[in-house]
Amino acid sequence: MVEEKKKRGHWKSKLGFILAAAGSAVGLGNIWKFPYITGENGGGYFVLIYLACILIVGIPIMMAEIMIGRASKKQPVGAFEELQGEKTGWTFVGWMGVACGFIILSFYIVVAGWAMDYTLKAVVNFSNPIAEKAETAAKVYRVKTSVADMRKTLVERRIKLESAESISVVRGKASKKVWSEYKNYTKAIESGVALKEARKVLFEDEKFKRKIELAIKLEKNISEIKRKARVEAIEFYEKIDDKKIRDESETLFRRQKIAVGIDKAFGSLVTDGWTSSFWAFAFMLLTILVVAGGVSGGIEKVCTVLMPTLVGIMIFMVCYGVFQPGFKSAITFVFYPDISKLKASGVLEALGHAFFTLSLGMGAMLTYGSYQEDKKGLLSQSIWIALLDTGIAILACMMIFPIIFSYGMSPSAGPGLVFKSMPLAFTEIGSGGMLLGIIFFSLLVLAALTSAISLLEVVASYFIDVKNWSRVRAAWIIGGAVFLFALPSAFSYDPDFIMASWTPTFGMNFFDTMDYLSSNWLLPFGGLFIAIYAGWVMPAKLRDAEFEGSSKMVLTIWLMLIRFVAPILVTLVILQKVGILQLN
Ligand code: PHE
Repeated sequence: MVEEKKKRGHWKSKLGFILAAAGSAVGLGNIWKFPYITGENGGGYFVLIYLACILIVGIPIMMAEIMIGRASKKQPVGAFEELQGEKTGWTFVGWMGVACGFIILSFYIVVAGWAMDYTLKAVVNFSNPIAEKAETAAKVYRVKTSVADMRKTLVERRIKLESAESISVVRGKASKKVWSEYKNYTKAIESGVALKEARKVLFEDEKFKRKIELAIKLEKNISEIKRKARVEAIEFYEKIDDKKIRDESETLFRRQKIAVGIDKAFGSLVTDGWTSSFWAFAFMLLTILVVAGGVSGGIEKVCTVLMPTLVGIMIFMVCYGVFQPGFKSAITFVFYPDISKLKASGVLEALGHAFFTLSLGMGAMLTYGSYQEDKKGLLSQSIWIALLDTGIAILACMMIFPIIFSYGMSPSAGPGLVFKSMPLAFTEIGSGGMLLGIIFFSLLVLAALTSAISLLEVVASYFIDVKNWSRVRAAWIIGGAVFLFALPSAFSYDPDFIMASWTPTFGMNFFDTMDYLSSNWLLPFGGLFIAIYAGWVMPAKLRDAEFEGSSKMVLTIWLMLIRFVAPILVTLVILQKVGILQLN
């Protein structure tokens, strides 16, 4: 038989591999998602737990993926077959990875496309007219409103700001279900004719009665918190003179107007399927070009340039943040551990995010590992990749939160943190803000690009290795197919099209369904199977050979983590996400 195997691509250097893998890991997950889930979970302990998850679950599974790739020299579908010597059920795990890569990429390019749109928006200084209008409106407000009314508005705002956190802690003491039942109950009572009668009938159910009583008790606590906050706020503003009240009110009014304008701008981008598709297309094109360039000629080259650039840009942004008045509160917020804000669901969210951010569970690290030539450095490489990923996630917090705090915005603004709060802050900064905006959003695009490359590579490599397609052909055809599959996501929020009202799963639109399916199901299950395979099934001889050059202890500790700790923790995450486990 003729040996007709094409030569497989491989990395030119070890550093090249580490930077490419880190490029895969560092993406929207780090800059867009990590800061806002840190915000939602109150910083501090959440960050610590996240670090622990990276250490005891993330790094071991990353080692498992790299070693399966290295030992088999195959992409995910072929890898398990190669190691087992025959087709087994494990091949399915590889298929899952390829499917998952396809799915993630399809909505990833839509979000990355939004970041491209924002880069252009920053270049044309899109918020300038919004800011000018807001300024005029705020001046009018200042002249037309009485100081008494201004004081009232400020007091109300302060009450909200000061009590929000304690209220959410109290609310967290009962489950969502209790609160929704309580809401229904109060509605029923309010509309009921014979109040006492109605209550008696409803309270015949003991369980129900207990739930409602709990809610009533907590509701009392909340009223008390609000009352105290009101007393404090009134006292606070009584001491402030009229001129300052006017100044503060004007600023507040202006910011609110700008926020509304920016909110609208984001809304009109997201609800415009054509524009979203256009940018997704542009981003996909970039990704295809890099993947078509080959492993060392495309991916490695681009990542060795982009990763240092990325770190450089971030350090610049963090330096800017250090000189902002909000820097200290930002640091306290991210690093100060406050146990009262920690919820069990936060722990699991940290672990789930560890997967996504390290690109684990779908064979990206496996594929990249398969392009490695020698066997040394499994542990140190994984540590480096995880370190870079984590370092950049923390840098992202340190670049975003000082700006958020300095301009009086809420740290827990959710997914809009990057697309709404940051532009608002940039607008307030003035002309320099425009430059920061350009830098910030290009950073987001670059980070997303190096991740998207790895997603496309996983799918394309199957067609290159197994179907013998040329790399260029695979990159273009698969890239094109992903783009077509991305269209329903790009149109998911466009009210002019059917997609916006098509909510096939649990009331989620197509975009959210794809995200949900991959992040909540495919990645955790993929990770679980990979851990079980590497720990229990993979032939020991092949496995141990991957630990060449490291001490016996490394292997022992890794085996313990991959066999027991990782599978148990990942199972917990899955149970929580599915809703069987309801930790709060
Ligand atoms: N790790 C990437 C991020 O943080 C996303 C990703 C997941 C990339 C899975 C590849 C595979 O944005």
